[in-house]
Amino acid sequence: MSKRSVARVIKSHRQTEGGGFVVRRPLPTRGLEHADPFLLIDELGPVTYAPGEAIGAPDHPHRGFETVSYILDGAVEHEDSAGHRGRLGPGDVQWMTAGAGIVHSEMPGAELLANGGRVHGFQIWVNLPARLKMTRPRYQDVPGSRLPTAQTDDGKARVTIVAGEALGARAVIETHTPIVFQDWTLDEGGRVELPIAPELRVLAYVFDGAVRVGGREVTDGELAILGEGDAVELAGGRGRLLLLGGVPHREPIARYGPFVMNTEQEIIQAVKDFTSGKMGEITRTAQVG
Ligand code: CO
Repeated sequence: MSKRSVARVIKSHRQTEGGGFVVRRPLPTRGLEHADPFLLIDELGPVTYAPGEAIGAPDHPHRGFETVSYILDGAVEHEDSAGHRGRLGPGDVQWMTAGAGIVHSEMPGAELLANGGRVHGFQIWVNLPARLKMTRPRYQDVPGSRLPTAQTDDGKARVTIVAGEALGARAVIETHTPIVFQDWTLDEGGRVELPIAPELRVLAYVFDGAVRVGGREVTDGELAILGEGDAVELAGGRGRLLLLGGVPHREPIARYGPFVMNTEQEIIQAVKDFTSGKMGEITRTAQVG
């Protein structure tokens, strides 16, 4: 196998999102609009909120791509215009295909809001190819207990698999195009070499400690963009990272806030469809008392 080496390292910057919560964002960043098919990588926190302080993202639309929420600490309550509602807790994943359009809210869980507490997680945007941008919205809510895990024989490299496969374990989430989305923890002396098909673009975002990716040390808050090859080597250091891979669509991208399409015309249409209510709205039952 030919190992991929690191072509570029990007330091994340801090950014305010939604109702005012702070994220670490390595993508997009100055000089890198996207890493096709990945459009955005946001790490929420880790932050510890005082009672009454937790913030979320109130009602907003999406069209043309997928949002993946992966919660490590805290809880998010979500509702949307298709009538779904639910709660994501530590370890849980929501893979939402916004497709033709959806309006949703992502808010802190009630007891997190009341009592305060720690919040840590990710939201990642995966682009859809032109032929799927107007597909029916779809949800895959997977509790952490259902996410496959695996480890090397010595136990020094451990993985939770959201998408793709590693060490003989395969994801339960279905993706429209081949995607790798894996949470790896490496201990000192741990090492793993993973085959990843050459047509996938591969990224590694380290969010704790330091990990050697393709022989190069990548530290907390850094995103490594890997070059060509058919395998990825991860080695400890003690650290934790998200390993992301996807087949580039190589299509034009027109992006405006929560809409990601192929042309300006399609963006104008998306704004019209949202403002005229065609993406729906969230129906909330009035609280009694
Ligand atoms: Co959203």
